[in-house]
Amino acid sequence: MQKKPLKFIDLYAGLGGFHQALEKLGHKCVWASEYNTKLRNLYKKNFPGTPIEGDIFKVDLNEIPPHDIICGGFPCQPFSRAGKMLGFDDLKKGNHFFKILEIIDLKKDKAPKYILLENVETLLKHNNQETFKVIKNELELRGYEIDKKILSPHEFNIPHHRRRLFIVGAKKDKGGLKNFEFPQKKDINNTTIESILCPNHIPFEGEKLYLSNEHKKVLQLWSDFIENFPTESKLPGFPIWSHEWGATYPFQDYTPRRANLDELLNSKGIYGDKIIGLDKNNIINNFIPRYAQKDEVKFPKWKVNFIRKNREFYLDNKEYIDDFIIKNPELRNFEFSYQKLEWSCQGAKRTFEDKIIQFRPSGLRVKLNNWSPALTTVRTQNVYIPKLGRKLSLRERIKLQSMNLKHLPDVIDDTYIPNGSYRALGNAVNVEVVSIIAKNLLENG
Ligand SMILES: C[S@@+](CC[C@H](N)C(=O)[O-])C[C@H]1O[C@@H](n2cnc3c(N)ncnc32)[C@H](O)[C@@H]1O
Repeated sequence: MQKKPLKFIDLYAGLGGFHQALEKLGHKCVWASEYNTKLRNLYKKNFPGTPIEGDIFKVDLNEIPPHDIICGGFPCQPFSRAGKMLGFDDLKKGNHFFKILEIIDLKKDKAPKYILLENVETLLKHNNQETFKVIKNELELRGYEIDKKILSPHEFNIPHHRRRLFIVGAKKDKGGLKNFEFPQKKDINNTTIESILCPNHIPFEGEKLYLSNEHKKVLQLWSDFIENFPTESKLPGFPIWSHEWGATYPFQDYTPRRANLDELLNSKGIYGDKIIGLDKNNIINNFIPRYAQKDEVKFPKWKVNFIRKNREFYLDNKEYIDDFIIKNPELRNFEFSYQKLEWSCQGAKRTFEDKIIQFRPSGLRVKLNNWSPALTTVRTQNVYIPKLGRKLSLRERIKLQSMNLKHLPDVIDDTYIPNGSYRALGNAVNVEVVSIIAKNLLENG
């Protein structure tokens, strides 16, 4: 059992994920820093007792009060797939880790006993693992024992799939990590999105949770496709690319751009259209799906496989698909990505009603209702719950992060934070996961 409350600092505070997690365990936040003015103002309202400063590069680090734990989900763009992966070379964002070291160094023999950091999982492999080695070595040089693990809330029955790297440290001269273990994952079969849904939620003004007419049509069409699909036939586990239905253009040994004109004219393009024309460029633009238009000698193996499997799928179910195309001519007018379907529900009931839907650039994705994909910083990736007839509300997304906020980030763009609440929640850490790691660390470490 933890004896006395410990003091912690909340670096890169955001919505205060670390703050909430450690406060739940009875500890006290003595200082925080957050660059974004709107997030900082929100933090002040939610945690009125905590002094919070702005840009960590501009504050006087000497003013940080004594503390036992240093927490931080330091900005992750330099290591994330979404960023350019520059890591420590990204001087603007990448040197935040060295800032943390500076804080530790300034405290000399009063350096915090514990360290609790979070980042994207790609940090672990970044630069042939050299980046993580630097982090570990630098902390070890300062007397810490370090451990790390990739964990996701869905492994703890929180319906949010969000794999993140957690790094913990404890001063070796104070026992190190000898009694620490990362928490054991629970039985993920018990995780369901139902546990965070608020079916009676009336959307806030500007919350924009309903589908556009275009999206409704996309959903209806693909839902009909799945529901009426012959029961005796198997639905594919690979993405369905409807452009391949009836197509015969060359793709295996070389790409359509490398094929000669005659060969193209003797083959069929998207949806089995007869290819006509004299100009290869025009033919490619009008008859070849976008993903097969690139000028390269050969497609990568995965793409060859997807095209081949889609053509086999078409031939195996030709009667059903031909009839479907005739009855649903609007399919080919949908935005390119919505002519693709990912049915990630092998073996499940062939209906959308009890599933989770995402309108992704790679296609319409339908998945089981066990957990939400990772919250991202963009509104368009918010998931749709057919049962509710809407996307996840702000409160539900807050629950996906196991947060409890009295004052909410705004739902409307640009009031508190750009992109409404999406950026803040998409950057935040899951409170419950931090809390169970911290409990093991602070009570046993
Ligand atoms: C990955 S998020 C951490 C979110 C936080 N753990 C939470 O639960 O909400 C990183 C945060 O660092 C902030 N930040 C970026 N540069 C900063 C700087 N120079 N000083 C202070 N905060 C900064 C960003 O605005 C962002 O909110």
